[in-house]
Amino acid sequence: MRLLAIETSCDETAAAIVAETGDDRRPWRLESNVIASQTAIHREWGGVVPELASRQHLRDICGVVERALSDASASLADVGAIAVTQGPGLVGSLLVGLSFAKSLAWSYGVPLVPVHHLAGHIESIVLHHGELPIPAAILVVSGGHTSLYLVPSPGVYQLVARTRDDAAGEAYDKVAKLLGLGYPGGPVIDKLAREGRDDAYALPMPRMTHADRNAPAPTAPPGLLPPSVERKLDFSFSGLKTAVLRLVKDRTAGGRALSDQEVRDICASFQRVVVNALLDRTFEAAKWLGAKSVGIAGGVSANSRLRQDAEGRGARHGIPVFVPPIALSTDNAAMIGAAALRKLTVGVETDWSVNAMASLPL
Ligand code: KG4
Ligand code: ZN
Repeated sequence: MRLLAIETSCDETAAAIVAETGDDRRPWRLESNVIASQTAIHREWGGVVPELASRQHLRDICGVVERALSDASASLADVGAIAVTQGPGLVGSLLVGLSFAKSLAWSYGVPLVPVHHLAGHIESIVLHHGELPIPAAILVVSGGHTSLYLVPSPGVYQLVARTRDDAAGEAYDKVAKLLGLGYPGGPVIDKLAREGRDDAYALPMPRMTHADRNAPAPTAPPGLLPPSVERKLDFSFSGLKTAVLRLVKDRTAGGRALSDQEVRDICASFQRVVVNALLDRTFEAAKWLGAKSVGIAGGVSANSRLRQDAEGRGARHGIPVFVPPIALSTDNAAMIGAAALRKLTVGVETDWSVNAMASLPL
C-alpha cells in the first residue's frame, strides 16, 4: 500500500507519499516529502495570520501534491488511500487540505483517512526509527502543544501531562518577538543561545504546585501515576515569558538598547529553563510509567540543546531516546501518512461527512 498524505494545519502546505514495508519492526518507508513554507509571508506580521495562511494553502496545494507524486515516481492511480490532517489547527487552513483530500479520494474511489495532527508528530518518530521499545513516554512539543503521552502499545496514545497555558514553541516565538528577533522564534533563539551564557540570568523554573483550591483535575487518568507525582507533571510557560519580559524592561530602562551579548545570554538562559522543564517532567514520567523508551517530537524537538540534553539524560537513566530528524520534527505530511497507515491496520471506514476541527482530542 502506498498512501498520499496532506497536511495544512498551520502555515506549511505539505504532501508526502508513504508506503508500507511489510517489516513489522520498520513498518513504513518515506518515498517523498514536500513542504511549501509560508514563513516569509507571516514573518512580516510577526506571527501566523490565519486568513493569509488559508489563501496561500489554496495557491500551493496542487503544486505540492503533484511534486510529492513525481518525487516518488508515482501517479494517483498508484495511491491506495489518502490521509489528511483533520485537526487540531487553524480551521481555515485545515479546510483547504481536508476538502482537497476528500475530493481526490472521492473521485479516485479510495479511502480517506482523517488524522490527528499530534498522532502524526508521535508517529514521525516511528517512521524514522522503526517501532519503539514499549511502553514509551512521548513528549510532543510544538508551537501549539506541549503534551506528554504514554504509548502502552503501538497506536494507543494516553495523555499524561499537558501545558496549563502556553506551549513551549509559543514561548520561544513570544520571547523572540520581544527581543526583536522575528518569527519563528525557535530556530533563531536556538542559534543565538549557542553563543550565550546559560547561567547569565536566573529565570524561574515553571512549576505546578497546586496550592490553590481551584487547581484543575490531574491530566493523567486516575491510578496511572502516584497522586504526589501526577499534579507535578503538567507544564507552564507563561510565567517564564513574563519573567523574560520583566528582565528586558529592566535592562532597557531609560531607552538603553540590549547589547548583542545580552541578547545571546537571555536566549541561552531562557532555553536552559525551557529544556530543563521539558526534560525533568518527561524523565520523571518515564520513571513512574516504567517506560522502556523516551520519544520527543514536534517543532521544538528540532532544538539542538533539547536533543543533546535528552541524549545525555537518556544515557544517565539507561533509557533510549528517539527524536526524528529535523525535516520530520517540524510540520510535514510524512508523519500524517505514517499515522494514517497506523490507523489503517485496525481498519478505517471512510466518512464523507468528516469536518475540519480547530480543537480535537487525541
Ligand atoms: O510542530 P510545528 O512545526 O508546528 C506546530 O504544530 O505548532 O512547531 C512549530 C514550533 C514554533 O513555535 C517554532 O518556534 C518551534 O516549533 N521551533 C523550535 C525550533 N525549530 C522550530 N523551537 C526551538 N528550537 C528550534 N530549533
Ligand atoms: Zn505540529
